Amino acid sequence: MSTLLTQDNNGVRRITVNRPDKLNALNSEVIADIDAAFAEVAKDDSVRAVVLTGSGEKAFVAGADIAQMSALSPSDAYQFALRGQRAFDRIENCGKPVVAAINGFALGGGCELALACHVRFASRNAKIGAPEVTLGLIQGFGGSQRLPRIVGTGVALEWILSGDMMDAAEAHRIGLVNRIFEPAQVVDEATAFAAKLAGRAPVALKLALECVIGGMGLSLAEGQLLEASHFGLAFATEDMKEGTKAFVEKRKAVYKGK
Ligand code: COA
Repeated sequence: MSTLLTQDNNGVRRITVNRPDKLNALNSEVIADIDAAFAEVAKDDSVRAVVLTGSGEKAFVAGADIAQMSALSPSDAYQFALRGQRAFDRIENCGKPVVAAINGFALGGGCELALACHVRFASRNAKIGAPEVTLGLIQGFGGSQRLPRIVGTGVALEWILSGDMMDAAEAHRIGLVNRIFEPAQVVDEATAFAAKLAGRAPVALKLALECVIGGMGLSLAEGQLLEASHFGLAFATEDMKEGTKAFVEKRKAVYKGK
């Protein structure tokens, strides 16, 4: 894939958006490549966790490609938003944990991309925000829905309506990023965390992701029913038998994802 770099190591796939000269801005090609890359992640049993980051020193992703967007008709823009939403839904629903390593600017579509990941680590110099309204636009890749779910409606509206950029400390304070690291460390720390997750039982990770993500749109009673069904499903896995047996035998469990 021309716009993404991919590197596999011990069950962790690192995917890097690679348009550093444009601060990794998301044009149609990048969106299509992300869609295909995460369809592949979902299918490939050798991938147990993913790190998503941006190329270069300055940016995770500085937004959707403004030059490309400026020429879109309303119906093209609608389709562009749907394609972006589909690609980002694929990240959220790929069934493997995805850790964003936010190594600089994460603006507009870049912020939305990070929001579609399951865990977010940021570099101390990261700048995060939703500047769409400063361009006469609104969010189009799921950000108006995911940001309030993560940080709450009032806080989300402060940032969506102002279009201001927040620093990493503020993003951490409001719960938008999980952890902050020095710029030189953020990708390695995200990779180490992903490697730890890659050692967990893969089917259990998938079931846990489905419960949390699928439960967001459900009532408490429906969500708990989903949890109970998935809890039952976990007992159908070889990994559950291995995990509990290894505990009793005081050894490290070896999971096969079955
Ligand atoms: N879309 C298209 N191109 C972008 C881009 C975007 N979202 N963000 C940056 N670029 C391009 C710039 O046009 C420039 O290209 P050029 O060298 O061919 O002129 C290159 O990336 C470097 O960006 P530059 O603006 O020179 O870097 P900077 O350090 O001065 O500023 C930012 C960094 C992030 C503050 C600035 O690039 C910016 O405001 N980008 C847009 C952010 C945004 O509004 N995103 C939301 C879009 S909905």
